[in-house]
Amino acid sequence: MASLKEDFGLSVYARRGETNEEYYDYLNRVLDIGPDIVVDDGGDLVRLLHTERKDIDTVIGGNEETTTGVVRLRAMEKNGVLRFPPMFDVNDAMMKHFFDNRYGTGQSTLDGIMNATNLVIAGKDVVVAGYGFCGKGIAMRMRGGMGASVTVTEIDPVKAVEAIMDGFRVERMSQALRHADIVVTATGMKNVVRYDDLLQAKPGLILANSGHFNNEIEVDVLVSRSMERRRVRDHVDMFRLENGNRVYLISEGRLVNLAAGGQGGHPPAEIMDMSFAIQALTARYLAENHHRLERRVYRCPGR
Ligand SMILES: NC(=O)c1ccc[n+]([C@@H]2O[C@H](COP(=O)([O-])OP(=O)(O)OC[C@H]3O[C@@H](n4cnc5c(N)ncnc54)[C@H](O)[C@@H]3O)[C@@H](O)[C@H]2O)c1
Repeated sequence: MASLKEDFGLSVYARRGETNEEYYDYLNRVLDIGPDIVVDDGGDLVRLLHTERKDIDTVIGGNEETTTGVVRLRAMEKNGVLRFPPMFDVNDAMMKHFFDNRYGTGQSTLDGIMNATNLVIAGKDVVVAGYGFCGKGIAMRMRGGMGASVTVTEIDPVKAVEAIMDGFRVERMSQALRHADIVVTATGMKNVVRYDDLLQAKPGLILANSGHFNNEIEVDVLVSRSMERRRVRDHVDMFRLENGNRVYLISEGRLVNLAAGGQGGHPPAEIMDMSFAIQALTARYLAENHHRLERRVYRCPGR
């Protein structure tokens, strides 16, 4: 952030460790500028433009970086409520999800968990929820690089079979929790790890999330129903459940690679540059072609 300000003279509205309130304040301050193009990651900026900030009418289009944001955009498109012109789906460009989601998230999620816990991964029983691009990367690195014993949970039967063919065990989360040392979620869906199932979990379980929102693990219920909560290391909270068992939650269930990773996310030069290049190219395409594009979510031209 300092480099963006000092070396490039950009306005930056962000702070590491910002509160929810600050986060929305910063989004609003970005919108106060009256942007022509929005480059979003997760869909919060676009949601604001469709709700509290309908006063902004300068936007000619934009793009969306991540799976969850694209899901939100496509739902808006389907319901006919997309307010402004074209949005480009950067996530579904092959050069994005094949590399950023899989190899980037695979590596940086491991980095986040290792940095937060200082534990050896080898020999650990690791459960990965979701066998999409992020989940595949995490499962691959946990097993191949680090020597964990990996179980996958999946709701899509084809991907579940794919995980089996790739050599992973596949189970339901309620089952897998009984033997897991570490659970990592990467599904884009909420309440994938439920408090009631945690009551059957192996004591000392470590919970981490790499999906976009901090609702993949039922954190609110964990907070409200646990008998004790204590910060035991930077980024790690211990919760004592109603049955007396302890579970450990990394970074309050937020994206573990961003919140707890030494690098603060994927290695930028080798992975993020590919995604950023697609964002930049779609922004240029928009600037040159927006007058003939419709109010739709477009896939990126080319791959
Ligand atoms: N941490 C990061 O840096 C990073 C990077 C890219 C994407 N993401 C986010 O990670 C999440 C996953 O992205 P992706 O690209 O892998 O998506 P994806 O659509 O490729 O994969 C998600 C998988 O989760 C499965 N799933 C859904 N609900 C489930 C459930 N209840 N239990 C088990 N499996 C379930 C789906 O069937 C699917 O296979 C999204 O929220 C995305 O925005 C994070």
